[in-house]
Amino acid sequence: MYTQVWTAVLAGVESQAVRVECHAAQGLPKVVLTGLPDKAIQEAVPRIFSAARLSGLPISLSQRIVVNLVPGDLRKSGTAFDLPIAIALLAAVGLRPADGLARTLVVGELGLDGRLEPARGVLSLVGAGSGEVDRVLVPTENLAEARAGCSLPLAAASTLREALSWMGRDTREWQAEAPPLCGVPREAGPDLAFVRGQRQARRALEIAAAGGHNLLLVGSPGSGKTLLARCLPGILPPFSDAERLEASRIHSVAGLLPSRHGLLNHRPFRAPHATISDAGLIGSGRSPHVGEVSLAHRGVLFLDELPQFRRPTLEQLRQPLEDGRVLISRAALRLDLPSRFTLIAAMNPCPCGMLGDPRRHCRCPELERRRYAERISGPVLDRIDLQVAVPALPPEDLLGAPNSEDSAAVAERVAQARLRQRARHGASGREANADLEGSEIRAVCRLGEEEGQVLGRAIQRESLSGRSVDRVLKVARTIADLAGREEIVLGDLAEALLLRTGRQGLARD
Ligand SMILES: Nc1ncnc2c1ncn2[C@@H]1O[C@H](COP(=O)(O)OP(=O)(O)OP(=O)(O)O)[C@@H](O)[C@H]1O
Ligand SMILES: [Mg+2]
Ligand SMILES: [Zn+2]
Repeated sequence: MYTQVWTAVLAGVESQAVRVECHAAQGLPKVVLTGLPDKAIQEAVPRIFSAARLSGLPISLSQRIVVNLVPGDLRKSGTAFDLPIAIALLAAVGLRPADGLARTLVVGELGLDGRLEPARGVLSLVGAGSGEVDRVLVPTENLAEARAGCSLPLAAASTLREALSWMGRDTREWQAEAPPLCGVPREAGPDLAFVRGQRQARRALEIAAAGGHNLLLVGSPGSGKTLLARCLPGILPPFSDAERLEASRIHSVAGLLPSRHGLLNHRPFRAPHATISDAGLIGSGRSPHVGEVSLAHRGVLFLDELPQFRRPTLEQLRQPLEDGRVLISRAALRLDLPSRFTLIAAMNPCPCGMLGDPRRHCRCPELERRRYAERISGPVLDRIDLQVAVPALPPEDLLGAPNSEDSAAVAERVAQARLRQRARHGASGREANADLEGSEIRAVCRLGEEEGQVLGRAIQRESLSGRSVDRVLKVARTIADLAGREEIVLGDLAEALLLRTGRQGLARD
């Protein structure tokens, strides 16, 4: 008998529908698998036979069975093919009715005992095959993300038996309700209320959160750089629906959406260690592996102790910082993954960390200072909009009561500023000022005559590159948004210029 059922494969975070055809006929008893399956899919056959027998289905190989995966020129990989192949095969040999299979999409990996294991990327996978399928079945663990990713009738199963019993039921009964959308609890970061002093760095942190601008904190040991960066998750603006879906899809593909949870409910904050490999940071075509730059999509990538990262690794940040995506190619595979994140980095001004400290003395030889500064490539620095000094705290700040605003108050301003940006960018789909490109920047960040002249003089004085000017304009726009102003005034522009070069306060001794 001939049967078919639908499943899907991932290509990056996108998915493509795959039809599983199965034909059982008289001939030498054997299962033949065609249509570019990888090794994991080829190994599915013995798993399926074992799972079927242990589920009480009397399957024995007495026919020639051909399983074909369409489209035939697309490489298929992964273990989520187990269940669709099992369903098509059991129907083809007559152990199950085949009704409705041809318009059903199924994903899931089988254990030898017939248990269904969760699959990676279900959030994307369930969106494939629109128009071709009427209903979708997923492992129970993936139900919440499946519900978030498609609007078709849905069923969830924990075992092969359960999955087969769903196949026999009328689609009107496929009404699985996902558990309420509860996301991953956020790591409780520190609150800005506990940060003493550091007025300029706090301000820069707020601007970075509001507009999505990259930020570098430079200061002596113990001045609060790591503390400040760790406060960021507490003030980031809430996700828009589109951003939440985008970020969650990446986590789903990486297998990092905890089971039974639907979507991420706050922006990711990724803080990889300086020893991270290139593949770990950027991603790789192997298996494929999603890098930190993509896991940070629509959130924050925090690189603490920036000079300790290998320079070639940092160089690789240029593309994601500029384009908001990474291209990974390996052999025939080309992956294009979104990676639009806010970069927060922290470093000491010199190897001893005392450069620019008014009360202590830097003892680093000039050559070592220069070598230290050179570890961070110019093109990467050029993409960091806000570069501020975090000087050692003076004694009065250290001893007095902390007298600062808490994170909730700052978060409120940030959220308002982000709403203003979203409303202004409208249908373009841009979320934050930092995402604006090319002609959009001139249109959205318009300057008055006087402001234009000031910027012109700054370009000459600081020899700002075209890219720097664009970035200064976007930061000025965010500063105006935080103040609730539609036009950018001189003070906004001046502050943006100052924050771009603020760390230079530490460059002297
Ligand atoms: N501005 C500050 N306000 C309140 N506490 C602070 C401040 N700066 C430092 N501290 C205290 O000192 C600890 C160390 O600070 P933190 O780790 O942020 O320093 P750092 O600038 O990252 O230093 P390093 O350059 O050595 O990494 C913090 O956990 C906090 O308890
Ligand atoms: Mg630190
Ligand atoms: Zn020094």
